[in-house]
Amino acid sequence: MRYRRMPIEIESPEQLGYSSIRNNLSESSYTDALFQDIEIPASLLKGLVLCYGSHMGHEGLRDLIVKGSPVLDRHDVLLTIGAAAALFIIATSLLEPGDELVVVHPNYATNLETPRAIGAAIRHIDLHFEKGFALDLQAVKEAVTVRTKYISVTYPHNPTGVCLRPEDMQQLAAIAQEHHIPLLVDETYRDMTFGPLPPVAPEYGDHVISVSSLSKTYGLPGLRMGWIICRDRRWMETFLAAKEQIHICGSPLDEEVAYHYMLQKEKHYQGIVRAIRGKFDVVKAWMQQQDDLEWVEPDGGCVCFPRIKEPEAVDVDAFYKLLLEKYGTYVGPGHWFDMPKHYMRIGFGWPAVESLREGLEGITASLRGSRRPERG
Ligand SMILES: Cc1ncc(COP(=O)(O)O)c(C=O)c1O
Repeated sequence: MRYRRMPIEIESPEQLGYSSIRNNLSESSYTDALFQDIEIPASLLKGLVLCYGSHMGHEGLRDLIVKGSPVLDRHDVLLTIGAAAALFIIATSLLEPGDELVVVHPNYATNLETPRAIGAAIRHIDLHFEKGFALDLQAVKEAVTVRTKYISVTYPHNPTGVCLRPEDMQQLAAIAQEHHIPLLVDETYRDMTFGPLPPVAPEYGDHVISVSSLSKTYGLPGLRMGWIICRDRRWMETFLAAKEQIHICGSPLDEEVAYHYMLQKEKHYQGIVRAIRGKFDVVKAWMQQQDDLEWVEPDGGCVCFPRIKEPEAVDVDAFYKLLLEKYGTYVGPGHWFDMPKHYMRIGFGWPAVESLREGLEGITASLRGSRRPERG
């Protein structure tokens, strides 16, 4: 493995120091929850035995993760340390140096970086702004070769927030099936889809593997609770072997807290969805007033990925500097996603509405303040 730190982690708000940012528009999750928001009888935690837990993970929690699915059960669920560890386990289980992988680009950095660190040959499927960041299924078909080990997509997409229609996901699953390879769907943002929730990805077939977590929709990234859902027993056995070699099992304390959250999930969920939609409306109204920015409107998640219309007219580095230093506002610059810096990811789910408004106004002012002088 050739490990290299990723810009999205080096420059993350927690590394910069939360206290140095007034308006944090760089997060891709809903507002962080407080421990006190999760009702757990104190006696239950006090009596918790801090033993090694089940290697697959807390059974009740795994039941709740697939509750309501017509085909999935707890045996299809492996708990991991966040979706990040799930992606690492899958990549290191399925890829050897020199293997090929078809992966959507741009993407959440780990989906690209772990295959790169393994030494896999990556075939990018580029999403283009001009095409509404739509997935070109024909391009996916043409990218798959006999050396392709899996196809990797992220929907709702990070950083753009675009979604894939169920019929397109079906077609993607069919392409993977034709080649007898897995389709990995990172659906960490699924519960924030604006329209009706799509099926959980493995419902499209036994070869479809899903990754998700409690981090994003539920504002619980500090719990580090993620999972893999996979109906293929052989792959699952390999994923379990990888997990056991990395950390044996999860923390019984984290799993118990996550279990109780999931028992009460419905109590939180509708409020979260309403709050995200309200914040999205703020961003949409603001975007309509922006002459210097253009975007593809997201249809899920809590991030969007606008770009500066005329990047040559703006000193882009000065823009980010001004935005943070004068307006206390932090966004995710394009290079976090292997994209040019005049793209920026704006996370609207995390900040309080007033802070979101102030941050957006800061972006407008910083764009104005970093324009290059007109020539001539
Ligand atoms: C698409 C996607 N997958 C996975 C992760 C990792 O999330 P976590 O490990 O907190 O569950 C992220 C975090 O930003 C993400 O955006």
